[in-house]
Amino acid sequence: MELPYAESWKIKMVEPVRKSTAEEREEWLKAAHYNVFQLKASEVYIDLLTDSGTGAMSDRQWAAMMTGDESYAGSTSFYELRDTIRRITGFEYVVPTHQGRAAENVLFSHLVHAGDYVPGNSHFDTTKGHIEARKAFAVDCTVDDARNTQLEVPFKGNVDPAKLEKALKEYGDKVPFIIVTITNNTAGGQPVSMQNLREVRALADKYGKRVVFDSARFAENAYFIKTREEGYADKTIKEICREMFDLADTMTMSSKKDGLVNMGGFIATRWEDVYEGCKKFAIPYEGYLTYGGMNGRDMAALAVGLDENTEFDMLHTRIHQVALLGKLLDEYGIPYQRPAGGHAIFVDALKVLTNVPKEEFPAQTLTVELYREAGIRACEIGYILADRDPVTRENRFGGNDFVRLAIPRRVYTDNHIRVIAAALKNVYDRRESINHGVRITWEAELMRHFTVKLEPVK
Ligand code: F0G
Repeated sequence: MELPYAESWKIKMVEPVRKSTAEEREEWLKAAHYNVFQLKASEVYIDLLTDSGTGAMSDRQWAAMMTGDESYAGSTSFYELRDTIRRITGFEYVVPTHQGRAAENVLFSHLVHAGDYVPGNSHFDTTKGHIEARKAFAVDCTVDDARNTQLEVPFKGNVDPAKLEKALKEYGDKVPFIIVTITNNTAGGQPVSMQNLREVRALADKYGKRVVFDSARFAENAYFIKTREEGYADKTIKEICREMFDLADTMTMSSKKDGLVNMGGFIATRWEDVYEGCKKFAIPYEGYLTYGGMNGRDMAALAVGLDENTEFDMLHTRIHQVALLGKLLDEYGIPYQRPAGGHAIFVDALKVLTNVPKEEFPAQTLTVELYREAGIRACEIGYILADRDPVTRENRFGGNDFVRLAIPRRVYTDNHIRVIAAALKNVYDRRESINHGVRITWEAELMRHFTVKLEPVK
């Protein structure tokens, strides 16, 4: 008999979780202005808000914390981290930052100027925010396939080469670089194929541009290349990572995802001029170049985390769990961005809450309903997160309206996954009775979803 699948780790430390009553949740929702970012963690039973910084570190990572070197300059932990990053990515220069958006801030301060256009695949909201805050424009060149949630294609995160070439032709000198997000978070944790990365590289070379990878989930992307793309089944994750990064010039990293740490980020590049440019901003914004907003002990844990998470078994354990959630939703007929992605399931709210008009934010409404049902905190990746158009100030209703169920790394068991699926089924079963959503009573100009205040329309 073939042995069944099991996790590639065992549990050494546990943390109690707390259930709540429906009455308590109603009260807490109201106090949170129907924005789940405003809930206290103690008011949440299963927390799927994000997979960012919410993972469990391994015993080896905790052990590394004890040997972290807290020197202000020249920290041994920095050099350990730099050498690990060099080995995995091939990039010579490394600038640590306190998280991914800080890496964007430092790099873009050097490279992005007012009136620029930055083409890529579904820029993450902080990436878009850092571009738009500089009065520049993010040009989304994601393949159209990503829009059709029911289409089952292996690399829905890809850049459309025709759209990219059009942008490169149209904006010429106004393009400082191309950015490719691996995996493509906003499109549903969908991977980008090696073939597509090669096509992007070829266009970049043709138009004399450099390529930046937003690499928050690069290891998950490598897993999908290994398991879905022809010719990669026998390559190791580390070999695939190296091949991916060979097609880029620079990377920004949120280490809170595939670095398996709770806080941290970095920029890495093969170009000395980019490094020199970043240095000017890294020091005032983040800190000296051998810590950049990170403790020595955190850099030590990150070095171990990057190594652990570029091993197949670790990634298989994780992505298998996301796939299990997808499989259960299939059984219940609940539509999500297919196929299941790397870090999350993205429920297609427009197909679930068909009675709620888009002006009343269906995905946010479904997020509220899931919390109301079982204290499960998901995250809207939809019309609220899309912010307003910087020129017209209209809501951007053009894209998908998702509820993201992000799975923290090494935190929940498959039993929790079953609870999540059952709770969503209960909401799904009463979807016809949900006719109204929410309206905004207060919002920030950029990245509004974190702090937006809402109220039920009825
Ligand atoms: N790029 C991508 C693709 C991301 O998903 C994130 C963060 C960032 C950059 C910014 O990194 O949080 O370390 O500053 N995504 C989190 C999420 C917040 O929930 O998807 P950060």
